[in-house]
Amino acid sequence: MIEWKHMDRTKVEAFREKFVGFASGATTIGLLAVADRSGLSAYLGEHESGTAEEIAEGASLEARYTREILSGLAAAGVVEYDADTGVFTLPPEHALFLSSDASPYFMGGWLDMLPLVMSQIEGVATATVHGGGVGFEEFGPGFIKGIDRGNGPSQRVFLIKKWLPAVTGLIDRLDEGIRVADVGCGSGTAAVLIAEAFPNAEVFGFDVSSDSIAVARSRSENLANLEFHDYTVEEIPTEPGFDLITSFDVIHDLADPMAALGHIREALRTAGVYLMMEPDASSYLENNLHDRGALLYGISALHCMTQSLARDGAGLGAAWGTETAERMADEAGFSSFEKLDAITNSFSAFYVLRP
Ligand SMILES: C[S@@+](CC[C@H](N)C(=O)[O-])C[C@H]1O[C@@H](n2cnc3c(N)ncnc32)[C@H](O)[C@@H]1O
Repeated sequence: MIEWKHMDRTKVEAFREKFVGFASGATTIGLLAVADRSGLSAYLGEHESGTAEEIAEGASLEARYTREILSGLAAAGVVEYDADTGVFTLPPEHALFLSSDASPYFMGGWLDMLPLVMSQIEGVATATVHGGGVGFEEFGPGFIKGIDRGNGPSQRVFLIKKWLPAVTGLIDRLDEGIRVADVGCGSGTAAVLIAEAFPNAEVFGFDVSSDSIAVARSRSENLANLEFHDYTVEEIPTEPGFDLITSFDVIHDLADPMAALGHIREALRTAGVYLMMEPDASSYLENNLHDRGALLYGISALHCMTQSLARDGAGLGAAWGTETAERMADEAGFSSFEKLDAITNSFSAFYVLRP
């Protein structure tokens, strides 16, 4: 029996508040997912303010649901509420995250992925007791869409204008026409953007998921300089080699990340460059003890790590971090490893590796 009566009451109450914060965060994500799917967030992005009834009518939604959802979002600080007029307002600064995937801050992908990772709790609990994991396919086609809605918006705004130019000399070489591979390309957004921006480049997208490759192919029918193949990283041809290889949020998901890095190194031409985007974290837990760290380890245990372990993989985890990335790059035979601090965004780190 826990002797709760003799415990530090202040600490007990502080943890109660913290737990309420976890629970309300989870329900707020649920409400935001409903607002995303029902069109409420998109409507608020365009119209900003209204009473619950006006918003329900304008967005063609049921009034009772609209009021309850807006009330929850007001209590959570997502929308503002004026008690005198009954008007709810989504500030434009918040709409950036919720209303349109044209914004690089758009978080709609999280609203697809988080409910799906929560739906696999039973499987992860079973694996925690017996080993193994929950396979990538178990998360369903909605997860592929969520990854694309999660990573696509910032790729569309920053990949060509900010991320690629951060690698010295790369834009000139892309303009001249080099061979490019995006590994673990998912639904193909990054590969399509590169092929469109650099018509002289020969671009290839590779991903083990044939469902993702099917989406990618449907987006690239008019691009003569782009091909997609459902190859694992290790199946990517090493001859005639590539001048630029990219991967966006891929290496930590792999069953054998060490072999993959070695293969990428082999597939790079002598003057080639590998641009790797991964979650921005330290390899040491003590440096990740904050909300973003909690999010990263959480999504890792509930998706990234478990889907790797489901394939008898390494289960590297989303928080493998810069120090481990540098060590593994060295072991894979790369001669240089650089973190591009200038383009690190709030979630991701960018590394440049050279053979
Ligand atoms: C988090 S997603 C990132 C997708 C894409 N790069 C993006 O930014 O939207 C990781 C991708 O790695 C792919 N993947 C996992 N294991 C793979 C392997 N062994 N070879 C190739 N791709 C793999 C998955 O199918 C998935 O599309």
